[in-house]
Amino acid sequence: MTGDFRFHSNAEEVHGFHCHRFEMLSSTQDLLRDWAHKGSLASGTVIVANGQTHGRGRLGHSWSSISGQGLWMSVYLQPGIALESAFAWNMSLALAVCKALDLVAPWSEWQIKWPNDLVTAQGRKVGGMLVENQIRGTLITESLVGIGINVGHGAVAECLPYATSLMGECKAPQAKGQNENDTLTENLLQALLARLKSMLYRSAEASGQPLGQVPYPLAGDWYKGNILAEAESRLYGLGQRLAFECEGRTEFWIPEGLDQGGGLRARPCAEGPSQTLIHPHYRLSPGLNL
Ligand code: BTN
Repeated sequence: MTGDFRFHSNAEEVHGFHCHRFEMLSSTQDLLRDWAHKGSLASGTVIVANGQTHGRGRLGHSWSSISGQGLWMSVYLQPGIALESAFAWNMSLALAVCKALDLVAPWSEWQIKWPNDLVTAQGRKVGGMLVENQIRGTLITESLVGIGINVGHGAVAECLPYATSLMGECKAPQAKGQNENDTLTENLLQALLARLKSMLYRSAEASGQPLGQVPYPLAGDWYKGNILAEAESRLYGLGQRLAFECEGRTEFWIPEGLDQGGGLRARPCAEGPSQTLIHPHYRLSPGLNL
């Protein structure tokens, strides 16, 4: 199947988003970026693939995306928000994912591991986000929001103790076959797009406008203070002693909250004042909080 959006005018509408589904792609993020470069891509365009051969993670890492084992998707948005709100924007997207997870996989407490991982309260990673912004002047004009959530057991290699899947966390003795994976993946997609819609568009329903024509997708509750406070309430390891890697050393810090610029406010376990840790200079070590 061709990956050119001009041959995909029959996108499926899901909660106002234009959804293009593929069986196998190299990367939903790369295809969306190609489409965006070709121009005239509508805000609200979504690409979902059943599997990816070259899924990309943050910091140049690869992202394993086994066929039928997860939600692998990218959303194109034109937020038109100030660059200084980039981190709050990121957090609002991460919160939308957490809330969708609450709805369809309520058997765990879903948290945000700084800066952008989706984890259980013990720190097992269930998914991640890759947000790539286009900046013009002082505005974020375009965002390519890549979201990867491990759904089935098969998404995660058994030798990875710090990674998990939605099914892997579900203790209920329910069938965990491919049908259940597919249903959960579809429910998650639907819940996430519904969540994104209500977060993004103040009055999309009332105005009856398609997503792409709403100039400022700012919901009534979109403002930095609220979002950062809400993200802090979901922050993995808040008030706990965590290990960080910095310039080849391991340091121990206690997270206290989030900084508007994207840093993590933390106090050292050793003597010393609180500081704002900057990513990726400081990286949370993989580890579990059991
Ligand atoms: C991370 O935690 O490093 C972010 C992972 C993001 C993976 C998703 S899967 C769908 C989309 N397409 C990609 O190639 N990457 C993102």
